[in-house]
Amino acid sequence: EEEGEKTLRSPICCIMGHVDTGKTKLLDCIRRTNVQEGEAGGITQQIGATYIPADNIRERTKELKADAKLNVPGLLVIDTPGHESFKNLRSRGSGLCDIAILVVDIMHGLEPQTIESLNLLRMRNTEFIVALNKVDRLYGWKVCRNAPIGKAMKLQSRDVQLEFEHRLTQIITQFKEQGINTELYSKNKERGETYSIVPTSAISGEGIPEMLLLLVQWAQKTMVEKLTYSNEIQCTVLEVKVIEGLGTTIDVVLVNGVLHEGDEIVVCGFQGPIHTTIRSLLTPHPMKELRVKGAYIHHKEIKAAQGIKITGQNLEHAVAGTALYVVGPDDDVEEIKESVMDD
Ligand code: GTP
Ligand code: MG
Ligand code: NA
Repeated sequence: EEEGEKTLRSPICCIMGHVDTGKTKLLDCIRRTNVQEGEAGGITQQIGATYIPADNIRERTKELKADAKLNVPGLLVIDTPGHESFKNLRSRGSGLCDIAILVVDIMHGLEPQTIESLNLLRMRNTEFIVALNKVDRLYGWKVCRNAPIGKAMKLQSRDVQLEFEHRLTQIITQFKEQGINTELYSKNKERGETYSIVPTSAISGEGIPEMLLLLVQWAQKTMVEKLTYSNEIQCTVLEVKVIEGLGTTIDVVLVNGVLHEGDEIVVCGFQGPIHTTIRSLLTPHPMKELRVKGAYIHHKEIKAAQGIKITGQNLEHAVAGTALYVVGPDDDVEEIKESVMDD
């Protein structure tokens, strides 16, 4: 490797916000999937993970002609539930991510779980952008499917533009009341001090290009250290589930390092440490949601960052939210077993 040239891993981006602000729908729009319509009651009840390859980001942002020099392999997006009863899952998601999208419904402004999410992000000093979603609900909105929001906004009537400005100003004030400076992304020159707001519609796709570009540019610009790939395994268990034909599986987020089929692993269990072997390493196809059952790709090995389904024996009592360890050739298994239970 050349001096100064670093291999970056994919940034992990958590999507957070109040219930029904459109978090899953925004991901559906990016993925061109229909996950949200398949959810019981339209409510997300698990953490999800989707890998978006750089090529898809390039394709989706090309109209911006921003010459987005992408030097990350992609983006791993973590979907979280907004329902108030899932604070633990929001906390787990926000604990894993490098950057976040805080989704606010333009018709509702800040709501209780918006503020709760904001506080989780603040607590960990996580950078985020605000997606001001459902702009298509502004009265008289002219749909410009998947267009950059800059372009779409210019095509709106004066009335729509005024209503937008009015709601935006109110929401900026609501953020200020929480001690947070925000500004429309196109006016936000100082970034870092002031968080950017990107208007979006998850239904007609306006603003998705800017949202993706802003995320990746910001991550690449400010997180090179954090995103530099390292061999040290950093891996968290998201969910434990039984899948027909596979038995009990664990969904994990691999933040750093490489996992291999056959790796000896230790995870925290409700009845003591679980020491087992990775039977198979599975991922959904790129642009597909890990939490939705579908066709899996089998891997001999897989490099971070990724959302992965692991099959193996004895995983039924694994504790979601805890770390997964790989037993290296020089490691003392007993020591690792002790440390997993401390998590
Ligand atoms: P939870 O995960 O349950 O917290 O909800 P969520 O934030 O993921 O919202 P979800 O994607 O489930 O969307 C909630 C509802 O809002 C659905 O009926 C969506 O169709 C609708 N919706 C989401 N985004 C938009 C949007 O941009 N415009 C309009 N008009 N409706 C939207
Ligand atoms: Mg959802
Ligand atoms: Na919902």
